[in-house]
Amino acid sequence: MISSDDGRTDPARLGPDEAAQEIKRLVAEIDRHDDLYYNQAKPEISDFEYDQIFRRLLDLEKAYPKLRTPDSPTQRVGVEPVGELEKQEHEAPMLSLDSSYEMGDVRRFDERVRRELDKDAVRYLLEPKLDGASLELVYEDGVLTRAVTRGNGLVGEGVVENVRTARSVPLRLARKHKDKELPPPALLSVRCEAVMHLSDFEALNARRRRAKRKEYINPRNVVSGALRQLDSRVTAQRALTVVAFDILAMTSDDPPFKTDREAMTALKKWGFLVPERVEVVESVEEVAAYHKGFEERRDELDYEIDGVVVKVDDLQDRERLDDTAHHPRWAIALKFEPPRAAAVVREIEVQVGRTGVVTPVARLWPVKIGGVTIRNASLHNREELERQAIQAGDSVWVQRAGDVIPQVLGKIERSAFYMPNACTSCEEPLVEQGPRSVCRNHFRCPAQLKGQIVHFASRKALEIEGLGDSVAELLLESGPGSKPPLVKEPADLFDLTVEKLLPLEGFAKSKARNLFKAIQRVRKTDLSRFLVGLGIPEVGPTVAEALVKHFRDFDKFRAADEEALQEVPGVGPEMASAIRGYLDKEEIKSRIDNLLEKKFKFVVPTVDEALAGLTFVLTGKLEAISRGDLTKKLKQHGATVGTAVTANTQYLVVGDIKNGKPSSKLTKARELNVKQLNQADLDKLLKERGVGPLPADPESQPDARGSAARPATDP
Ligand code: IVH
Repeated sequence: MISSDDGRTDPARLGPDEAAQEIKRLVAEIDRHDDLYYNQAKPEISDFEYDQIFRRLLDLEKAYPKLRTPDSPTQRVGVEPVGELEKQEHEAPMLSLDSSYEMGDVRRFDERVRRELDKDAVRYLLEPKLDGASLELVYEDGVLTRAVTRGNGLVGEGVVENVRTARSVPLRLARKHKDKELPPPALLSVRCEAVMHLSDFEALNARRRRAKRKEYINPRNVVSGALRQLDSRVTAQRALTVVAFDILAMTSDDPPFKTDREAMTALKKWGFLVPERVEVVESVEEVAAYHKGFEERRDELDYEIDGVVVKVDDLQDRERLDDTAHHPRWAIALKFEPPRAAAVVREIEVQVGRTGVVTPVARLWPVKIGGVTIRNASLHNREELERQAIQAGDSVWVQRAGDVIPQVLGKIERSAFYMPNACTSCEEPLVEQGPRSVCRNHFRCPAQLKGQIVHFASRKALEIEGLGDSVAELLLESGPGSKPPLVKEPADLFDLTVEKLLPLEGFAKSKARNLFKAIQRVRKTDLSRFLVGLGIPEVGPTVAEALVKHFRDFDKFRAADEEALQEVPGVGPEMASAIRGYLDKEEIKSRIDNLLEKKFKFVVPTVDEALAGLTFVLTGKLEAISRGDLTKKLKQHGATVGTAVTANTQYLVVGDIKNGKPSSKLTKARELNVKQLNQADLDKLLKERGVGPLPADPESQPDARGSAARPATDP
């Protein structure tokens, strides 16, 4: 047998029977890992191992296309584009729903239902009304074969390739539940709503914003577009969620369900996602309470709802109540008022539309309205703008309704610009610290996290090339389907692989490889750079170097108490306490532990004491060595190198002064009687102290960029 290097047999060499067997095994294995990952959040294998199994299945299906079944997990990633969407008839008409904003209408609905059924007590099933796109799913012998958009209610468009990419859609009905056999009906047609999680929507808009593309107005529009895509691989990127709530048609040997509640339980057992917090009630008062409860918690949900649905629970009663041509007479939706929130106007822009109408648009400080971040709102027209007299800095009420751009409703009377009271990045309430507003969500706030990652990678710290603002944003953003972001803290950078980076926007092979290499390279780094990267308050390069010079070892530094820290030159009591306080934070402890697991090799400069106790300041350009290299060299031998001449300075090293202008350091040195050294004096001093001539050790040779003059080549 011929095996590939992963020990698996080349698909072309397998017989069809063997291939069929292996495919069956792989499908079961992937189904199990999908369930562990998506439903139980307890993955047992790495993404990499999963990809290997998945790829093997793809290879086998490619070699034996006849063995590819419609319920294969490979269909979830999308298939070749279709030419156009096919018109398909629904198994039963998909009616619309009667709806109202008034509790009075629900009262009248209830009275009519009781009257027509001639009953005193009627049970109602209550559900949230999901704001997405209506969809029919059809299962034949338990396998998903069709998915049809609502269309005109009788005929819609066939979109099964797109719908298969939604993880929440069972490709095959579960045949067992808690060890009980569940024979699937020969035909099952289910009414569903396709929605998009708000977190996915926000991530999608963030990507569009970065790509300077127009943002989507609401999740529902994205869902409708994604459902009707010709290329299902695009739909797969949109991470749709499909919720089932009604059986449209079903053939079965078993007696059908008596109530909607029973039907719902069956849907759940078959593997559908069903609405949450479903309740059965018997009075209009309970309907009102349910409506109020959902309206209040509306912002906590990760999907949009626009009301609650009240349905007669008894299915026989439903038959008796019947339908109008338009909607069933056994259900009514009680809608919510569109969500609104206060926002601050950043500036006002005037836009010219397609037809020449010129519209004022308010650019807002980002504000969450009903779970969606809003940055722009219409100010209607000239007349409205003048009437409301709105200007930059004003606080206004903004409403987000329907498919249109959010609207400014009116001004909240205040005359000056007010700081927002929630963080504009993470929406945590801001805390006033003296004159400043501070977001204290230091370890979760996206803007702060981004800053921390960028700082970690910056030139003063670990110097990871290619990791700036925009790349950090991509790394911190959650992937499609609410996949966790690649990076949540600095240590995660070291787990990135070329494969993981490739799907990011704008990452071609070479870019991914370069970033990967740049990150791996900094595993060997100056300890002082690592200290700077940790973001310890007040610890920049100078303090970090002093700390390293003193402790020479990360663990010793980490264990030092405030007293020990104060032994380091330049570290006073306040700084010592700030450093200790930072290192003792639980989150920082765990971040550091996680980083140390990545096996850093810390470089600590060798130091001797030849120049210990001497303090230098440098001015002008020296012939033999650049100022940076001389500083490094002097420090290596234990000297202190300051940036300004003070009473503590012993030597001012004077090189060529630019434009012959006297340097202020020189003036100061004369004033304080500080000894001046020219190149020859310096050489002499170094020689006396047993330090080699300039440039001495190869590490401080002028670099290839020629930042220092080379005496040897001078004429
Ligand atoms: S019951 C017609 N229940 O809302 C009777 N509909 O605005 C069957 N919708 O097109 C519908 N959530 O697709 C029902 N929990 C829910 C719903 C729901 C959303 C949709 C439905 C309908 C639309 C009407």
